[in-house]
Amino acid sequence: MKYNEIFEKIAAELKDYDQIGQVATYIPALAKANPNKFGMYLVTRDEHSYYHGDTDETFSIQSISKVLSLVYAFKLVGTDLWKRVGVEPSGSPFNSLVQLEYEQGIPRNPLINAGAIVICDILISELENPYQDFIKFLRSLAGNPDIDYCKTTAESEKECGFKNHAHINLMKSYGNIENDAEQVLDFYFHLCSIEMSCKDLAQTFMFLANGGKNPLNNKRILTAQETKRINSIMLLCGFYDEAGEFAFRVGLPGKSGVGGGIVAIYPDQYSIAVWSPGLNSKGNSSKGIKALELFTTITQSNVFGPSPIFDELEYE
Ligand code: DON
Repeated sequence: MKYNEIFEKIAAELKDYDQIGQVATYIPALAKANPNKFGMYLVTRDEHSYYHGDTDETFSIQSISKVLSLVYAFKLVGTDLWKRVGVEPSGSPFNSLVQLEYEQGIPRNPLINAGAIVICDILISELENPYQDFIKFLRSLAGNPDIDYCKTTAESEKECGFKNHAHINLMKSYGNIENDAEQVLDFYFHLCSIEMSCKDLAQTFMFLANGGKNPLNNKRILTAQETKRINSIMLLCGFYDEAGEFAFRVGLPGKSGVGGGIVAIYPDQYSIAVWSPGLNSKGNSSKGIKALELFTTITQSNVFGPSPIFDELEYE
């Protein structure tokens, strides 16, 4: 399988891509990102890796952490989780407040900001050392003990996170936040600030392509059925009001962050991460989506089509 050649072909095709988008500026620490960075990293189910570009450089994973905090909370509280947060696509921007009022403080899903804040509240209630426990969980998934929070980014977002303050206060007024609002938001901003490379991200998400088991140590993280739930939420909610477009063009469950990262998984086959800091109008990496669209088209791998016959794959 010539994945490295496929990556080179994609990178060449997108070299002068003219819809690269804008880096996020609403969090000052993210505004410094270099829009020309680009990396793609693939981990296959037999733990082979293929990569191209800036795949070892770390960046702010931002909302991609929402999937991992969801998994951790789901492991701790099980199906009780769904009393506090829904599983329906929002069709709205990640930071929209509109539905939250109509739906009486129960966020549509755990991947919009309001939902992720409820998940942080649950983790703070359940864990004695939420910051340490969560980062330890990520390090074991990635097989990288250096993964960490970025204090500067967390502080930077805290100073301008007015909408997130609005979200948590609205939810608290409806009784859907148990802990002190500032404490919960501090944890939320820290989760968004975590830095990883494309390599870390692809490896971290591999358990979701592996029936819920961490392939690095064979440890079960989720049951097969729980894995289905997380993957379906990623497919329907991972890109906010662009989730339909991502499914339409790429055809895989995935998650984006305003740092320009995207990770997607193909159950039983692979996990793939891409990084390009320029965002489209929906806050998702513009070139990243295009690169993944090319990848799943060339490899004929998506959850809606026939199973690909990898060995017989042909491409130009
Ligand atoms: O709460 C925020 O606005 C950010 N920390 C996370 C936003 C984000 O990554 C949305 N995803 N595309």
